[in-house]
Amino acid sequence: MTTPATSTVPVTTEAPVRTAHRRRYLMCKPEHFTVSYTINPWMEPANPTNTAKAVAQWQELYDLYQKLGHEVELIEPLPGFPDMVYTANGGFVIGGRAYVPRFRFEQRGGEAPAFADWFRSHGFDTVEPREVNEGEGDFLLVGDVILAGTGFRSTGDSHREVGEVFGREVVSLNLVDPRFYHLDTAIAVLDPVEGVAQGGPEHATIAYLPHAFDEPSRRILHERFPDAILASEADGEVFGMNAASDGYNVIISPRATGFAQQLRERGYNPIGVDLSELLLGGGGIKCCTLELRGA
Ligand code: ARG
Repeated sequence: MTTPATSTVPVTTEAPVRTAHRRRYLMCKPEHFTVSYTINPWMEPANPTNTAKAVAQWQELYDLYQKLGHEVELIEPLPGFPDMVYTANGGFVIGGRAYVPRFRFEQRGGEAPAFADWFRSHGFDTVEPREVNEGEGDFLLVGDVILAGTGFRSTGDSHREVGEVFGREVVSLNLVDPRFYHLDTAIAVLDPVEGVAQGGPEHATIAYLPHAFDEPSRRILHERFPDAILASEADGEVFGMNAASDGYNVIISPRATGFAQQLRERGYNPIGVDLSELLLGGGGIKCCTLELRGA
């Protein structure tokens, strides 16, 4: 019996060629890092923290960004604001315009004016918010579209507001697992340059953790991003989705080994940076990184 020719041809799916793009980031050295209150399930004030270790781990991320050719700006850390290291929550910036956060919890409230001052003094068109929102923690730009998370921190009204501020389509997504309370703990944007749903089945514009979302949001993600990488629970639990990508290099938790493999298969270059100390505050690589998109 002869086998039909079609079944003997091995299916080769070539990983696409990726391109690294130079980024401009805002970071904040965790000089005052500790865990003195609980506003997410990861934070346990009874567990000791080591500020020197947090600074050393953060420094590795900072140095790596420089080595990869990115430009990194710094904001002065304020005493009494141990969470200020998580600059992703400090705003959302597109085209030289910065939408300022309004924090859900009073413990972080004092960070907002500091970030607003930083944006103003660095020439950004700075927009004060009316609605509760936690910046790039809950807003992710993919192509022309803003993916916006709600359920724990940023409100649904802030989704409308961010859409008005930037004149862009906003896709609202509902987070349902308290451990993944910000959108950037559940979705990693891998290739923000390409428009939504462009590219072939291997394109993989984003990666996400399906169980962090309710059923309607999972359906939206599936329809918009049929090519997405679906992360395992194990990779999600070590904050694997909290990653920073330049379109080729993807900085991830070294514990997210399955995700690293998925990235390699799609032509990305995963690089591990261990921020275990900062995970005690419920944050990782992306949380410590705010993208400053210029005009
Ligand atoms: N302790 C901080 C908080 O709960 C962590 C913020 C993490 N940031 C992020 N973009 N996911 O607000």
